[in-house]
Amino acid sequence: MDRQNNMELAAQLIQEGKLVAFPTETVYGLGANALDPMAVAKIFALKERPSFDPLIIHIADLDDLKKLTAEVDDRVYLLAKKFWPGSLTLVLPKSKLVPDIVTSGLPTVGIRMPANEIARELIRTSGRPIAAPSANKFGRISPTTANHVRKQLPDVDYILDGGKTTVGIESTIIELTEKGFRILRNGIITKEDIEEVLSFDDSEKTESIVAPGMVKSHYSPVKKMIVADENIPVDIDKSKAGLLSFTGKQESGYRKVIRMSENNDLKEYAVNMFDAMHTFEDDSEIEIIVAEPVAETGIGKAIMDRLRKAEYNWRKG
Ligand code: TXA
Ligand code: MG
Repeated sequence: MDRQNNMELAAQLIQEGKLVAFPTETVYGLGANALDPMAVAKIFALKERPSFDPLIIHIADLDDLKKLTAEVDDRVYLLAKKFWPGSLTLVLPKSKLVPDIVTSGLPTVGIRMPANEIARELIRTSGRPIAAPSANKFGRISPTTANHVRKQLPDVDYILDGGKTTVGIESTIIELTEKGFRILRNGIITKEDIEEVLSFDDSEKTESIVAPGMVKSHYSPVKKMIVADENIPVDIDKSKAGLLSFTGKQESGYRKVIRMSENNDLKEYAVNMFDAMHTFEDDSEIEIIVAEPVAETGIGKAIMDRLRKAEYNWRKG
């Protein structure tokens, strides 16, 4: 079977309630028909994802936004106009059309229109909005190539291969409040970018909903992983370690080094980060993955969020 680029077949599989992994500009998604609860259940099963962690629905046209949400105010269209198609997910009150399994029973639904053409073509050709988390096992490194998907989810029904993703980290997720917006997950679209159209709501969140994206450990390699800042014990054996290097100043002594960017560009760090983590995870000469930290502003916030979660399990022990 052609497992790479048969769009008609991929769309047909979506219609039949099967799972199709597909590229978005951020990371690869594990997609199913968002309106078919049985198909969505397969996503949770294959990913081994807890049922309390809701999925994002991907759309290709603004008409779908209306169908999937209960109320859409002008601010939503303002955001959609500026950032869609693109790496921004909006958490909005859901319509009855959206099955509870997609939102883990929450009254809200996360929606985004991806910039990747293959992703939008899959949505349009199948004629279905597509629920998709990142196409990795729950808690593990996110996939930025089709091979990363194959490694973790060999049993997926189909993979559309669109090459390496161009953003490299997951979408920014925001919710709207009376005062403006709150960020639920940082991404390439920064707080400052969004502030150009809406005010940031810095008030304390009062509701006690467990913010699902906020688990402490995530994006984890199966090998030891640490961020090489002043807090780490200096006694790691660098001859067994692979470094995700950014400034080039920390490279000496490491068994292997992958440079995230040749010109100090944080966007390139984001593009290369998960790929480098996968490379070291697969490399039998590497026992420890070390990442050089960056300043936690702008895109740096999104990078550090992920590195902190990736090292969490290894650091706490
Ligand atoms: O870039 C992305 O967003 C990628 C690509 C495939 O689109 N998708 C992705 O999905 O990162 P996932 O499932 O790995 O992460 C989505 C996050 C989850 O942590 C989930 O908790 C949060 O979005 N989320 C989804 N719906 C939500 C809701 N109604 N309220 C709060 N958080 C929500
Ligand atoms: Mg994920």
